Amino acid sequence: MKIISIVGARPQFIKLAPLSEKLHTNHQEVIVHTGQHYDFAMSQQIFSDLGMRNPDYHLGIGSGSHAQQTGDMMKSLEDVMLKEKPDIVIVFGDTNTTLAGALAASKLTIPLVHVEAGLRSYNKEMPEEINRVVTDHISEFLFAPTTSAAGLLKGEGLEDRTYITGDIMVDTIKQNLPVAMEKSTIIHDLDLENKEFNLLTLHRNYNVDNPQVLSNILGQLDDLGELIIFPVHPRTKKVLEDSGLDVKNIVLTIPLGYIDFIVTEQYSKRIITDSGGIQKEAYILKRPCITLRTETEWLETVNEKWNLLINPSDKDICDKILSFSPPKTQKDVFGTDVSLKMARIIDSIKG
Ligand code: UD1
Ligand code: UDP
Repeated sequence: MKIISIVGARPQFIKLAPLSEKLHTNHQEVIVHTGQHYDFAMSQQIFSDLGMRNPDYHLGIGSGSHAQQTGDMMKSLEDVMLKEKPDIVIVFGDTNTTLAGALAASKLTIPLVHVEAGLRSYNKEMPEEINRVVTDHISEFLFAPTTSAAGLLKGEGLEDRTYITGDIMVDTIKQNLPVAMEKSTIIHDLDLENKEFNLLTLHRNYNVDNPQVLSNILGQLDDLGELIIFPVHPRTKKVLEDSGLDVKNIVLTIPLGYIDFIVTEQYSKRIITDSGGIQKEAYILKRPCITLRTETEWLETVNEKWNLLINPSDKDICDKILSFSPPKTQKDVFGTDVSLKMARIIDSIKG
């Protein structure tokens, strides 16, 4: 079969990598990069860290308002689909790239696979919630990362199209961590040898777009009195540049490559984040995770008590962080050999 895989944002490259390797055995795969993320550290660095081949198409869409970005992507993706005539299209996660790819494929009646289906925050302030609900409902094949995601899909009448595959990011991290631990010099480069540190990331619109909200979060975290390494997402950087931030304990860096980032996660004392993918990686690497959000799509990590949700507008963030301690054990909730399971399901689709 001919398959088009559509990616555009950092976490999508990380989700595609292990699946792309497997698809090559039996199919012709065309990789399309929408260009939603374009900084070297957010895109090319990740491709090269993961040993991925260059995309067959780079649409160069870039940033913009939601409608503009999604609409521009849809037009260019439709051109590629009409030219390539794929048997199936695969989209990943819940970004505007996901939505644009899903809508373009579905209007051309090309069977659609959604990797990471069935996640819900029930928070419509998140553009991702709209993207994932629409994508799930127009996809033919829903790859659910967890049993709770499959349960949510069942509740929406989508049981017949649901496959519980496990979470694809498990494969990426398991394949790359041993080499990363050998190869990466990031702990030395950031002068973290023999030091305890927290790892912080923030990029959710409701946490970073308003400079006062962002300053309140960073001010409280600075008061923790512990070293915090903060690779700054470009969305957050834009806001920080205008905010005149003054912190003592927080070390700002550019976004790290994937290899360096997973090593930094592995060595961290705890991870503080609002990222979806990083909540999962913290769980897989058994690092205590603090999620600065009022809800999460990754319910199992909270139910297993390895992930603590803290409302970012709370005034006692430090006390809550300091009193959080996960249990000694945890259940496997994200599965194994996920890309292989996905590839087998795709192999069985009649082109
Ligand atoms: C996007 C996804 C989000 C995902 C995140 C992963 C949507 C609606 N959001 O959020 O679900 O969790 O990616 O990181 O699709 N920018 C740069 N350089 C870049 C990319 C972005 O400077 O390479 C800046 C631009 O000013 C841009 C802003 O960051 O306007 C936001 O980028 P965008 O892709 O719209 O959303 P993210 O916040 O990255
Ligand atoms: N990541 C990275 N460098 C960084 C921060 C994150 O390589 O500086 C990786 C991280 O390991 C994870 C993914 O990016 O696999 C998470 O992406 P992000 O937080 O941008 O988006 P989300 O998962 O919230 O959609």
